Amino acid sequence: MSKRGDWRDRARGFCERFGGQVPLLLAPMAGACPPALSAAVMRAGGWGAAGALLMPPEEMARWCAAVREASDGPFQLNLWIPEPEVRANAGEIAAQIAFLSHWTGEVGDPAPVGGPDFASQCDALIEARPAAISSMMGVYPPAFVERMKANGIAWFATATTLDEARIAADAGADVIVAQGAEAGGHRGSFDPAASERDQCGLFALLPAIVDAVDVPVVATGGIADARGAAAAFMLGASAVQIGTGFLRADESDAASAWKDALSAAQPGDTMLTRAYTGRCGRALATQYAIAAASPDAPPPAPHPIQRGLTKPMTRNAKASNDISRMQAWAGQSARLARSGDAAGVARAIWQETLELIG
Ligand SMILES: Cc1cc2nc3c(=O)[nH]c(=O)nc-3n(C[C@H](O)[C@H](O)[C@H](O)COP(=O)(O)O)c2cc1C
Repeated sequence: MSKRGDWRDRARGFCERFGGQVPLLLAPMAGACPPALSAAVMRAGGWGAAGALLMPPEEMARWCAAVREASDGPFQLNLWIPEPEVRANAGEIAAQIAFLSHWTGEVGDPAPVGGPDFASQCDALIEARPAAISSMMGVYPPAFVERMKANGIAWFATATTLDEARIAADAGADVIVAQGAEAGGHRGSFDPAASERDQCGLFALLPAIVDAVDVPVVATGGIADARGAAAAFMLGASAVQIGTGFLRADESDAASAWKDALSAAQPGDTMLTRAYTGRCGRALATQYAIAAASPDAPPPAPHPIQRGLTKPMTRNAKASNDISRMQAWAGQSARLARSGDAAGVARAIWQETLELIG
């Protein structure tokens, strides 16, 4: 697959090797990838995705069955690589609970909320036989990489820096997903403490990774229309991956206040925050996220404790469509996200990309 030659060769090579009719991927988004959204993008010839972080094996199986019933295109299943167990500081947690109680009638359990068991999720990933398994925040253990390869499943590894891309390629990743700092949702940083420091924009990160690794590179972060997609292909991408750009689609189950706020958000209206989960991610600058970043606010508890503490608040905010406290992840190109059916959005982005650079 040519790295520097014609972008069409890279794009065609990606689809021939990994699947899909067009090199356009729905981004894996934990809690925001209903089967209907993936199926719609797959019907347009692109890739579906599930952010399976919080899905136990049975839920993963149900998700895959629903998507396969609606479309036969390729999709990726995605997990976060677990971080070492966190130590909670009782004083910090008490201060955080006091802060949160100004925002919500009910603060969640301060005990670390264990997600589904990682090893069982990994077994379920293999059993589901997706076209690709993806990762963020680290690399899969070597034994699991071997299992993926033995089962003919490609590994798409997210990297936010050149070093992470090299580590992932050396660990056997078939594709690097270069996640620019513009991206909505959590940063894929391997070192949780480095997320705020490591902020490479996609324009600088993508060609650096393309030049450094021998595997195809998927571009993600701030791509939400044909201009962004075209730029990514010119910078060496073999495919583009879009998250926020699909959140306003009919099939997205984001709350209507979130969808509305995305369309009004200028690039400066998002911010990096740990205030929802304890891990750094890019979200709309809601009143809660802004207040949590003020110098006199207590620091968020580590992940996953903070996620547990804010759970009742974010659940209630979604139920009452209250954007001021909603966990509303968003990339810097949020305003470009289109409404309408996701297959139509995907087809339009691809068609317009071809018109620009085809
Ligand atoms: C709501 C939301 C949830 C996300 N969850 C995940 C996730 O679970 N795993 C992952 O690798 N990336 C996750 N991401 C990041 C996306 O995969 C992708 O990197 C990002 O959406 C690209 O930037 P964009 O939103 O500007 O398109 C999430 C992004 C959003 C917006």
